[in-house]
Amino acid sequence: MIGRLNHVAIVVPDLAAAAEIYRQTLGATVSAPADLPDHGVTTVFVELPNTKIELLHPLGEGSMIQTFLDRNPSGGMHHICYEVEDIIAARDALKANGARVLGDGEPKTGAHGKPVLFLHPKDFAGTLLELEQA
Ligand code: CO
Repeated sequence: MIGRLNHVAIVVPDLAAAAEIYRQTLGATVSAPADLPDHGVTTVFVELPNTKIELLHPLGEGSMIQTFLDRNPSGGMHHICYEVEDIIAARDALKANGARVLGDGEPKTGAHGKPVLFLHPKDFAGTLLELEQA
C-alpha cells in the first residue's frame, strides 16, 4: 500500500537555527520558511536527493506543534510521511484493519497542496504517520 518516503518532519524550537544547521553544517539545500496557518505551522523544507526533511515550528495560538514542543523542548522527530496512490482507498483499508485516523477522518490539503491524513501513533509502532496522495 505505502510507496515512497515523502518526508520526515522534525519539530524545532528555533526554525532559523535549525535551517542553518542543515544549510551550513550538513550542506543541504534549504527552502525559505513558509507559513501554513491552516495547519498552525511554519515549515522549512530540506531537499535531499531521495526525500525531504520538513522542519516545523508552531504558528499562532493552539498549534498542535506547540504541545509537542512543550513536551520536547529541544524538538524532535514528529512524523513520517509515506506516499499512497489513492488516499481514500488506503484510509478505508486501514480503518477496516482497526487503525485510527486522526481528526474527522477526511483528507486535508497538506504542505505540498496534496491530500493528506494522519494515523494514530499507537497503531503504527509508536510513530505518527502521515499519508500523502502522490
Ligand atoms: Co508532514
